[in-house]
Amino acid sequence: MAGTSSKIQRIITLSSGKSRGSNLIAIYRFFAEQHLPVEIVRAVFTDAKSVACQSCQQLNIPTRIIPARDMEAFEAQLIALAHSEDAQLIALCGFMKLLSRDCLSALKIPVLNIHPALLPKYGGQGMYGMRVHEAVFAAGDKLSGATIHRVDLIYDHGEILVQKTVDISDCSSPQEIAGRVLAVEHEIYAPAIFDELQRL
Ligand code: GAR
Repeated sequence: MAGTSSKIQRIITLSSGKSRGSNLIAIYRFFAEQHLPVEIVRAVFTDAKSVACQSCQQLNIPTRIIPARDMEAFEAQLIALAHSEDAQLIALCGFMKLLSRDCLSALKIPVLNIHPALLPKYGGQGMYGMRVHEAVFAAGDKLSGATIHRVDLIYDHGEILVQKTVDISDCSSPQEIAGRVLAVEHEIYAPAIFDELQRL
């Protein structure tokens, strides 16, 4: 981790309505427990029914619902929000759609994502949720892990910032792999966001 600065850095998280919010809450807890000057100024959800949205409200994390059925409208609202909030970084936390080139360049800030497997092998269209762990299990891999990468125009692709492997040789199901990988995700995402913020 790079050196700290006392200026509060402002981040936005982006989640689908199906997100459990586990990465989002792990990020929130890390910054709070480490007393680091990073604030989630807005947790964006595509659906108000998300359980994670309720968890945010309990923790006083400001939320915003932006439906993603019309991606052009979604992106316009996201860009306006990021600018009005003076956000320095966007962290995807269970957001399963692609952001366009125009959106990424208009945002002008880093957009990071976490993927529940080792990229580049287990990335690409369709590789999300349990499907990733099922593919890893079917391949008989002894290692899986989590990858943090810059968001790219291709699904779960882009410059890899951090990757951590975990031994899954004794896992007897994709569900068991998922649990082990999720623990790694919770460990590495917030420090990687913090390091990225220090580089700005
Ligand atoms: C996490 O496992 C994350 O790595 C994955 O979705 C889950 C969301 O967790 N993201 C992707 O697969 C991105 N392609 P959450 O439900 O706790 O937010």
